[in-house]
Amino acid sequence: MCVSIFNFKNALQVVAFAVFLCVWVGVCDGGSFLGSTLVAQTEISCTGVISLSVGESSVTNSLPGMREDGFVDLFNGKNLRGWKQRNGTATYEVVDGTILGRTAQGSPNSFLCSEKEYGDFELVFEVKVDKGLNSGVQIRSLSKPDYKEGRVHGPQVEIEWDPGESGYIYSEGTKRGWVSPTRTQKNVFKNEGWNEYRVLADGSRLQTWINGTHVEDIEMPAIESMKGFLGLQVHGVKKNSGPFRVQWRNIRIREISGDERRETRAFKGTPKVDGKIDDLWAGVPRVLTSRSIDEVDELSGDQKASTAWVRCLWDEGHLYCLAEVTDDAIASEAGDEWDRDGVEFFIDRNYARTSTYDDDDAQYRTEPSGNESTGSENDLSTYKSAVTKTKNGYIVEVCIDIKGEVGKKIGFDVQVNNDPGDGRRMSAMKWNDASNDTYFDMSDAGTLEMVKGN
Ligand code: BGC
Repeated sequence: MCVSIFNFKNALQVVAFAVFLCVWVGVCDGGSFLGSTLVAQTEISCTGVISLSVGESSVTNSLPGMREDGFVDLFNGKNLRGWKQRNGTATYEVVDGTILGRTAQGSPNSFLCSEKEYGDFELVFEVKVDKGLNSGVQIRSLSKPDYKEGRVHGPQVEIEWDPGESGYIYSEGTKRGWVSPTRTQKNVFKNEGWNEYRVLADGSRLQTWINGTHVEDIEMPAIESMKGFLGLQVHGVKKNSGPFRVQWRNIRIREISGDERRETRAFKGTPKVDGKIDDLWAGVPRVLTSRSIDEVDELSGDQKASTAWVRCLWDEGHLYCLAEVTDDAIASEAGDEWDRDGVEFFIDRNYARTSTYDDDDAQYRTEPSGNESTGSENDLSTYKSAVTKTKNGYIVEVCIDIKGEVGKKIGFDVQVNNDPGDGRRMSAMKWNDASNDTYFDMSDAGTLEMVKGN
């Protein structure tokens, strides 16, 4: 609803009016202007015309309402607006500002799903569950008519009584079972009363906390979906058992923008640098070069960008990286090395994030042919690499000279260049910095921390 139009002659008047507006709305709203209960939008046009529109949400406390801390409440405490039930016949109702789920005899797993889909986010909610009921919250989940007639499937953050597997990740509805390889954390979930969960899904890295304790920190396998709805699960129950209850409240989410700085960890270990994946690499966190360097994206039609899953190990004198690249057509004809297929590693050894290269900064590149190159100032004697070909691309394994120690952080990035056969680079996929500046400016690279590991 558009309620009024004002005309202003200069910027000062516009600012003065905006201040007045904030104070006025603050008063009308009992002072909670930054809360989610009243949303007033002002649009200031270049001619100095302000139109004030008070949306529907101003009276109904509806979604979405951005909070001061950047989170949006997903449950308004009054009704299930924004949610939709899929699969089973368990019941969901709003009771005392909570969502109360109750099991139903004969029902398969039921899910109350967000209407909106989320990819990278921080999700916080509180939950309490009856003894004997297994539950969970789906993230990045899907339901498609051509997949088991709409069966909800995707990663689930587990909820159950202690001792159990709360906070760990299960691949619901896919027959793949647990994503979390080990599930050892105990005494974190409070059996009686409310539990606060925090889920941080940023790219391929997924972390969970329960009541402030860090439970899981895992690189999601590429086969798990990266974007989808949230779903509150009420599990099916055995004949003649139940009904059991599970309750949620204070469900809120903060979406993470695609350009937030990424972090990863290298585990301690000394692999043989031969382009083969030896046992030492098992369980090492993996990151995906999933950000496209915009100015290099010229792919057309059915041409695909090449990406790599990258893992790192370290020892006292080195950083080792293993990049598994997907590339369906290997090309090496272009004149410049960076225009050919290949993987580049960017290293800021002293983590100073300088916008021009210092002596500790380096760019190293290896092509599928094994050819190595670097930006003009860097020294290739601090770099060694090996390449093997795979069914759908190639592997580059590298060893970079650097002093390693537990807790050390460095600036780090990886880039996969791809010439789909046109004689020049048509895509370049980076792990963190989506600009094409990392070969001279390390200020926006990601962060790599050396940890002890398994
Ligand atoms: C960049 C190129 C640059 C080259 C210099 C690459 O990482 O993507 O645009 O010319 O480095 O070595």
